Parts: sequence; C-alpha cells; structure tokens
Amino acid sequence: MHIQNRTFIISGGASGLGLATVRDLHAHGGYISILDLNAENGNAIVNELGSDRTKFFETDVTDTSSVQAAVTGTTAWIAQTGAPIGAVIPAAGVGSPGKLVDRHNEPIPLERLDVVININLRGVLDLIRLCLPHMTTTTPLPPDNERGVIILVSSSAAFDGQPGQVAYAASKGAIRSLTLPLARDLAQYGIRAVSIAPSYFESNMTAQMSDKVRKSLERVLEFPKRPGKGEDFARMVRHCVENVMLNGETIRLDGGTRMPSKL
Ligand SMILES: NC(=O)c1ccc[n+]([C@@H]2O[C@H](COP(=O)([O-])OP(=O)(O)OC[C@H]3O[C@@H](n4cnc5c(N)ncnc54)[C@H](O)[C@@H]3O)[C@@H](O)[C@H]2O)c1
Repeated sequence: MHIQNRTFIISGGASGLGLATVRDLHAHGGYISILDLNAENGNAIVNELGSDRTKFFETDVTDTSSVQAAVTGTTAWIAQTGAPIGAVIPAAGVGSPGKLVDRHNEPIPLERLDVVININLRGVLDLIRLCLPHMTTTTPLPPDNERGVIILVSSSAAFDGQPGQVAYAASKGAIRSLTLPLARDLAQYGIRAVSIAPSYFESNMTAQMSDKVRKSLERVLEFPKRPGKGEDFARMVRHCVENVMLNGETIRLDGGTRMPSKL
C-alpha cells in the first residue's frame, strides 16, 4: 500500500507510539485521522501539522457510538479529499498492572480487568469492524489488487508477560492470536493484517513507571542498550504499510530483549 493520497486512521494517535506514527505517515504524504480520548493533545497536533491532511476526532474506543461517529466523520472527510483508507492502526492502549489477588488476599476489582480488555481488545476489534465496510469497497490497487492493511499493536507481554501483567498480556496475546485469522478473513478483499510487538518504548505509558522498574528494564536490554523510540516504531509501521508480503504475522520490535520474570 502506498502512503500518498491515502487516509490512515490511528487510534491513540495523540501520544506515544501512535503520535510518532501520525507524524511519520503525515511526513510521507498521508492523510491522518486521529482518534483519541485526549482532546487537548489531539487538537494541538492538528494545529502543529495543519488541518489540510490531519483531522482529530475526540473518541473513546470503549464506546461504540463514539467510534462510529469518528469513522463516519473520517469517511465524510474522505469524500472531500478523495484519499481512501490505506490503513487502520488501532494503537490506543493502557497498561494498568495488577495481580489477580493482592497481598491482602483481595481479588482485583473486575472493573480494573474490564478497563484493560475493553480498551486493548474490544476497542481494537470495534474500530476495525466499523472501518472494514469502507475498505472492502475501495478500488483495488495494481499489481496485487491490494485495498489496505490493518496494523495492530501487540507487545512483548504477548510472549513474555511480567508479574502483574495478566490482563495486559491477555489483551496483547489476543491481538497476536487474532492477526492470522484476521489476515485469512480479509485476504479475499486484498486487505492485510500485521501486528507489531514492541518491548520497552519511550511513551507516556512507560513514563509512569517508577525509576526502579525503568532501571531494571534497562539492565536486561540486549542491543541497542536503550528503550525504543516512537520513530523506531513508526518506521516499522511504514514498512508494514509498504511491504505487501507482510501479512498474518506478529513482528517483535525489541532489540533482542526478552522480558525477565523478576524486575
Ligand atoms: N510504550 C511501550 O513500551 C509499549 C510496549 C508495547 C506495546 N505498547 C502499546 O503501544 C500502544 C500505544 O501506547 P503508548 O506506549 O504510546 O502509550 P501512551 O499512553 O503514550 O498513548 C496511548 C494513547 O491512547 C489513548 N487512549 C487511552 N485510552 C483510550 C480510549 N479509551 N479511547 C481513545 N484513546 C485512548 C491515550 O489518550 C493516549 O493518547 C498501546 O497499545 C500499548 O499497549 C507500548
């Protein structure tokens, strides 16, 4: 899939890995529809990049009417720009660590599990589901009759989840697991599905970790000996957009690091 004159729908695009992807695909000529809860950041990015090729929709991915409104708004914008959807990148996600039973032998409140699963899994599927009817009907591109790509965000936690990551690992493992059947279901339309599984990347999410956790993560890094940067992630997204042979796979983006059991 090419980037110029295509629209990229990016949830979580107001911060971190999603925002780096917004910047990169915009710099390469794409139209960007940003869906995020954070209206202040979202509007600031549109101001910075200009409203010619960016649009922000204040969206809660756990609320299907909010997602539907953003998709409808994006397709109305596409009707003006003539730039059909090139990719959907559902990057909105939350960490929210917690063990299923705490040190006082209290079970974790179910709502805390719901938050993670609803944003990281249900919200991802909902956005893809609502975008697909607009992708399956676009004109396929030669030479392969491609119509677009879904680029999902899994995590190292899908492979080696750490203590306190049961809900997060479940959500990211689900993303990893659904990538192949999604690719198989969408093959008939010329739509691919690829997941990227980053390890420890600089973002708002990881900025909330304690210094102790951050230092212990930095100790286990192989090469390079630094956390990933948004640009590293965005470059991989761009490659997933452009390389038609990537399909049905989860790509680890982790510099060879395997997350340890103990921090
Ligand atoms: N940073 C890492 O080390 C890392 C590693 C592996 C995977 N990931 C994944 O990358 C993705 C992006 O995370 P990040 O690290 O950039 O975090 P981040 O906190 O910087 O960005 C997440 C964005 O998602 C938005 N968001 C949260 N809940 C939302 C909701 N209900 N509706 C709409 N938007 C919502 C937030 O407002 C924020 O802008 C997530 O799926 C995360 O799980 C991150």
